[in-house]
Amino acid sequence: MWDYTDKVLEFFYNPKNQGVLEDTGEQGIKIATGEVGSIACGDALRLHLKIEVDNDKILDARFQTFGCTSAIASSEALVELIKGLSLDEALKVSNKQIADYLGGLPEAKMHCSVMGQEALEAAIYNYRGIPLATHKDDDEGALVCTCFGISEAKIRRVIRENHLVTAEEVTNYVKAGGGCGSCLATIDDIITSVHKESTVPVGVSLNQTNGKQTEKLLTPVQRIALIQKVLDEEIRPVLIADGGDVELYDIEGDQIKVLLQGACGSCSSSMATLKIAIEARLRDRVSPNLVVEAVQPLVTH
Ligand code: FES
Repeated sequence: MWDYTDKVLEFFYNPKNQGVLEDTGEQGIKIATGEVGSIACGDALRLHLKIEVDNDKILDARFQTFGCTSAIASSEALVELIKGLSLDEALKVSNKQIADYLGGLPEAKMHCSVMGQEALEAAIYNYRGIPLATHKDDDEGALVCTCFGISEAKIRRVIRENHLVTAEEVTNYVKAGGGCGSCLATIDDIITSVHKESTVPVGVSLNQTNGKQTEKLLTPVQRIALIQKVLDEEIRPVLIADGGDVELYDIEGDQIKVLLQGACGSCSSSMATLKIAIEARLRDRVSPNLVVEAVQPLVTH
């Protein structure tokens, strides 16, 4: 069962912008249509834009979507976001904005927000007479994932725009790697390459992909998610094997509060465990400024 926000459910159950826009011959008005995905692959979205020709403004939009709850909700969010924008402004709408408008999407459903962004671009490029084969270079270059027809350019773009660090995340965003899996190693190489190309912005956090340190800017939510991921995947298994465990309790700025459990909680060397096994690893993988502190669980009588 997916964990959907109230906004996703509201948009899924009561979409207000579903349907078609047809050219009625109204003067100064043109209809543009963009289509992405395929029913065979499980998701397809056709987007219609009503454009005021004189000022390139989107007066109205409608969608026809075949897909899951997230696909319908993402389509509805997209339309809400772009109404009233100029075409150039609309082209700046990212898949992240679509997901944020919904209060977030399950990670495995992020490809639905990407599909919305791509349908929007397809409609605008169709309207402007620019062949889709050249827009944003997404369809140029060799296919990396033949199962889903995803090019290297598209994978690079989604990594850059969403600060992705694992192949699993790439699969969640564009499906690449979600079939036979034979492209996963190539996706890992692309992630490393993209991160190497990026410059180090202010407020940078450290991260690793395939054992190689890379650098990326994290939002607060991404930072918390990364801390939890490192704890779950790299720290807890080691502690559990030793009869202990650790639970993330709270995060205040760079201060990470954890609950030590089992052998770790009662062990006289728990402070050393904290410093060596937990703090050092989190500093290495997330940020060198992190400080880990153990807190006592609340006892109720
Ligand atoms: S080639 Fe990418 S999943 Fe099969």
